[in-house]
Amino acid sequence: MKILVLNGPNINMLGIREPDIYGKQSFQELLAILEETGKALGVTVEQFQSNHEGALVDKIQAAYGCFDGIVINPAAYTHTSVAILDALKAVAIPAVEVHISQVDAREPFRQVSYAGMACVKTIQGQGLDGYRQAIAYLRENYG
Ligand code: DQA
Repeated sequence: MKILVLNGPNINMLGIREPDIYGKQSFQELLAILEETGKALGVTVEQFQSNHEGALVDKIQAAYGCFDGIVINPAAYTHTSVAILDALKAVAIPAVEVHISQVDAREPFRQVSYAGMACVKTIQGQGLDGYRQAIAYLRENYG
């Protein structure tokens, strides 16, 4: 099974960025978690992070016919991007939305998720473990 993990803007600033909300673990530590999870669950995990909406759309489109699952944290684009929603719908690859923080308990503008409308599941407020849970969910249900 091949899973694509996508991260949106500012996720590369993990560990530096608002540690009270996003934790002290760095983006490099997240990459290590993804690699370990892939090995432990016997799935191929590829990851891509971008601060640019179009780059994320391009990557989702390129996943068509190549990946069996997508884990996506669109970050701020969660709450604004119809383009990412449409790309996920276009490829129709089972996708799980991940948020490191508990977005439901934050500002009202964070409580709308466009990308989530095209996802089979949302995991939020679990810190970086949410990514492991998302990969495990895809493995169990679509592997
Ligand atoms: C986030 C939540 C978003 O509201 C925010 O813009 C992010 C990160 C999260 O992982 O908790 O950048 O997606």
